[in-house]
Amino acid sequence: MSFRTFILGLSASFGAAWLAIVVVPFIKMRNLEPIQLSEANDGSTGIFFPKRTGRVADGAKVYAENGCYLCHTQVVRPTYAGNDLYRADWGGLKADPDRGDTRRETNAYDFFGEKFAQIGVSRMGPDLSNLGRRVESEYSSPQEASQWLLSHLYNPRHEADRWKSTCPPHRFLFEKRKIKGNPSDEAMPFGAEHGKELVASPEAKALVSYLLSLKKDQAVPEVLNFGPPKAKGAR
Ligand code: HEC
Repeated sequence: MSFRTFILGLSASFGAAWLAIVVVPFIKMRNLEPIQLSEANDGSTGIFFPKRTGRVADGAKVYAENGCYLCHTQVVRPTYAGNDLYRADWGGLKADPDRGDTRRETNAYDFFGEKFAQIGVSRMGPDLSNLGRRVESEYSSPQEASQWLLSHLYNPRHEADRWKSTCPPHRFLFEKRKIKGNPSDEAMPFGAEHGKELVASPEAKALVSYLLSLKKDQAVPEVLNFGPPKAKGAR
């Protein structure tokens, strides 16, 4: 093999992968066109608009800064690539009280409003695509859900059944401050000592707001819906 063939072969092997993994997805996703809903398939007309509520921009920054993406993904993979849709409440709720089965795969529109799509590096912990939905379905009010998330951030082993959790504690996102007068309403129910109370920092609150906004199970137009087959009218 001549040196020339070697270099050409090398560029072709790396070039093809680079084209398929970097260039083609970039071109396809850099300008997402709005999707027109169709009366026949989606039951409504107009333009599909992905909804997220919460401090998505600030919270996503705290999420990125703390490397949550190193262990948590935010991608519900298509079924040909994994069994994500069939893992308890990863892809949406199997039995949402109002909407029935809301499970579906992730699509590019799910990262709307985020500067980077935090798809994740590896999966040491559970996928967080629908964490907000999952936590809220377990608690009766959004306040209790955010309280649970704050406790998890402070000490991931706070619950007996998570005593082996390897999610790192993020105590630096909390502040101990002196109680002046009555303890404040926003003080955490734990961590108080010697006239001091524990409160969540603005970063922790933004992060929790972002985590609660993770509800990537909004019904999508028929053209984007590659979820498992569902009974008609179940979406
Ligand atoms: C070293 C890897 C690692 C990092 C970094 C990490 N986690 Fe985790 N996380 C885990 C593991 C493992 C679990 C599963 C054990 C458990 O439930 O506590 C988990 C569980 C969780 C859960 C509970 C999920 C559920 O559905 O029960 C939440 C919420 C969470 N992590 C949030 C975060 C946030 C927010 C960050 C960044 C500030 C973060 N994690 C960083 C490994 C990690």
